[in-house]
Amino acid sequence: MLPGPTRPASAAVLAALAFSASARAEEDLVRGAQAARACMACHAFSPGRHMTGPSLAGVWGRKAGTAEGFVRYSDALKRSGLVWDKRNLDAWLKNPAALVPGNAMGFPGIADTRTRADLVSYLEAVSAGRVTVPDRGLPNLKVVDTASRVTTIRYCGDAYRLTTADQKTHIFWEFNLRFKTDGSADGPPAGEPVLVGTGMQGDRAAVVFARPEEISSFIRRQCP
Ligand code: HEC
Repeated sequence: MLPGPTRPASAAVLAALAFSASARAEEDLVRGAQAARACMACHAFSPGRHMTGPSLAGVWGRKAGTAEGFVRYSDALKRSGLVWDKRNLDAWLKNPAALVPGNAMGFPGIADTRTRADLVSYLEAVSAGRVTVPDRGLPNLKVVDTASRVTTIRYCGDAYRLTTADQKTHIFWEFNLRFKTDGSADGPPAGEPVLVGTGMQGDRAAVVFARPEEISSFIRRQCP
């Protein structure tokens, strides 16, 4: 046996291995984050931020269909009895309809095994708080600039005329303006609806109210 040099050498090898393993894990997470973009149209990663789908914060190890405050789960998912571990998440992302027939996630699944593995690692890391996610979900409508805060809405002919707090008037053909509500903590303050541009076309937009009751009481029938 040659005790002297072998020890430091193997320690160095181990350190190198550990380093490359963590570099690989890092790469997986980067790829996982990229793959997660496909989810962000419907899911946010911040706790309690529900969109079309429930917030995915803390999904790892959680019982399916139990994110607090999400009220639109399908019965199928609630009754599935699944717990979101590595195996179940992989099967769900491969083919949601096969794992839970009758579920409400409008997503066909990801065929590529590697992409799913990266995504599952990413979901684990996000749940453990090891990576922070830029929340590309919805904006916080509690704090907006004067150009977005709507002060009056008048309806005449086939048009809505909106005045914003910066005194500008915006005219929309009625078919291009949507009225929405956001009752979450990030929604607009009561009585202070917010104008948000939707899509690429400059001729379309939405006004977001705190509550549905505000909508018709805010709009006045008045021609200029
Ligand atoms: C078109 C919208 C949409 C897309 C895109 C989407 N999801 Fe979903 N997701 C949903 C909905 C809606 C549900 C609730 C399904 C139900 O109740 O049956 C859901 C449920 C889930 C659940 C179960 C959560 C729980 O609390 O039990 C997980 C996990 C999940 N989605 C992960 C993903 C991932 C990861 C992606 C991206 C690869 C993704 N989803 C893409 C809409 C979507």
